[in-house]
Amino acid sequence: MGKNEYEIQKEKWEQDVQKATNRFPERKETFTTSSEKEVDRLYIPEQEDANYVDKLGFPGQYPYTRGIQPTMYRSRFWTMRQYAGFGSAKETNNRFRYLLDQGQTGLSVAFDLPTQIGYDSDDMMSEGEVGKVGVAIDTLKDMEDLFDSIPLDKVSTSMTINAPASVLLCMYIAVGEKQGVSKEKLTGTIQNDILKEYIARGTYIYPPKPSMRLITNIFAYCQQYVPKFNTISISGYHIREAGSTAVQELAFTLANGMAYVDAALANDLEIDKFAPRLAFFFNAHNNFFEEIAKFRAARRIWAKIMKEHYGAKSEKSWKLRFHTQTGGSTLTAQQPDNNIVRVTMQALAAVLGGTQSLHTNSRDEALALPTEESARIALRTQQIIAHESGVADTIDPLGGSYYIEQLTDEMEAEVEKYLEKIKDLGGAVQAVEDGYMQREIHQAAYEAQKRIEKQEDIVVGMNKFQLEEEVNPDLLRVNERLEMDQKESLKTIKESRNQAEVTTCLDRLRRAAQTEHENLMPYILDAVKVYASIGEICNILRDEFGEYTG
Ligand code: 3HC
Repeated sequence: MGKNEYEIQKEKWEQDVQKATNRFPERKETFTTSSEKEVDRLYIPEQEDANYVDKLGFPGQYPYTRGIQPTMYRSRFWTMRQYAGFGSAKETNNRFRYLLDQGQTGLSVAFDLPTQIGYDSDDMMSEGEVGKVGVAIDTLKDMEDLFDSIPLDKVSTSMTINAPASVLLCMYIAVGEKQGVSKEKLTGTIQNDILKEYIARGTYIYPPKPSMRLITNIFAYCQQYVPKFNTISISGYHIREAGSTAVQELAFTLANGMAYVDAALANDLEIDKFAPRLAFFFNAHNNFFEEIAKFRAARRIWAKIMKEHYGAKSEKSWKLRFHTQTGGSTLTAQQPDNNIVRVTMQALAAVLGGTQSLHTNSRDEALALPTEESARIALRTQQIIAHESGVADTIDPLGGSYYIEQLTDEMEAEVEKYLEKIKDLGGAVQAVEDGYMQREIHQAAYEAQKRIEKQEDIVVGMNKFQLEEEVNPDLLRVNERLEMDQKESLKTIKESRNQAEVTTCLDRLRRAAQTEHENLMPYILDAVKVYASIGEICNILRDEFGEYTG
């Protein structure tokens, strides 16, 4: 009798393991418990389980429920990628280098609000916000300082930037060139996800249509010139932070993902060329098993959407790769050290859910940006999970659990109901413009807040187990002189640059923006290289595209 599907897939997986370990050998010859018991790479049913292949599959095989790589963390841990940025580029560069010295394995840039909304530090709209929630970036000079002594061919960098994503990506490319690192070698991710900004986060500038043009310009440009860069990080994190449920977080994120795929296809991009560089970003919230089920369901749903709905042929198009950040909104200002425990459990859920990259929040972030000590403890949390807990030594250890598998199935079913509803509304862009997702989130947030106020949901230290006296921890203070210093340095740059070149580049950008379909990336790259500022570039596009008023 011929081999059944289960045996065929198992054999294929074993071959994939061999191939994968050529590039990423497993971390150890053998993995054992403290009692010298060898830990298998994967635990699977003794004999063919009726729908194992269809619903779970083997790691690195469609539908990827158990993970997207054949050996997962046995070969390579998730990237420990701490979101960081405050004050000046020089101050943030110091924090980057500190975190890299402490063992983090990827960079993640937090920009201040003026940068995120395309204003220069000397714009009146920037008053009081320069360097506050992230690093202040005005021109290429600041980006050069931000990555000073950090070789861009050796590190992958995520940039949390959306409306002006094209400007910051061009600055990053220009810094690479100054370091002698060609575009083809750059690795990292640009968040570049405007829909969730309309829904939940708010750092949008332009209306949906021109925003989608800028987003797909990045897809097209990177496909050709920056092939190792992930062109979007389709984010559920902020949707969850706005108060959504886990099901809504996943459903709205995947719906947004489909809208970006549709926009790219409408711009004649080929799905198996751009889809492998789409990435995702989720929240790791408090309900441990629900979060793990959410991540596992996410892979399976997206794989089916890409293979069956869009007809993508490349396995790389089917794999949902994601970053996770532990839930900022779960942190309490009360008894901040309790947050270390919350973050540990949330990080563990992300790892058991198969994340590719992880940021762990610091204990003091309900009060201020993290101190160096708090940021170190957050990173150590990941390192302890990786090196001491054993959870990374076998793949998808909770796979096959009655609870986890049922929760994963239920999550998938409820997400699919939402996807159907959003499709009936005309897709994610229309649903956002109608305010549908926003209403769903606000209702969920309201219900959750009511449960806390009635003590149906306990938040330790906040609505139960409070302290009479709270001890205020040392907090990070951003230097007050920063705004003045930043304005001064921008003034110096503007006085020393070749103004005629800047004017020429900005005029060319304006003319390109006035066309319907020109890719604006080459024009933006020319402009940043002559030290045009983010404000000057974004204001040209404000003139041509208008501003979204929500
Ligand atoms: N076997 C074989 N290959 C493996 C492997 C294994 N076990 N593990 C990893 N690899 C390979 C991968 O395939 C990849 O190679 P490729 O690019 O040639 O395919 C390489 O090793 C790197 O691995 P990953 O791509 O898995 O890891 P990265 O860390 O490079 O990328 C990502 C992860 C999720 C795809 C990427 O998009 C990413 O890094 N995202 C981070 C986003 C982020 O940090 N966002 C922060 C936002 S902060 C915010 O918005 C919140 C604020 O507003 C409050």
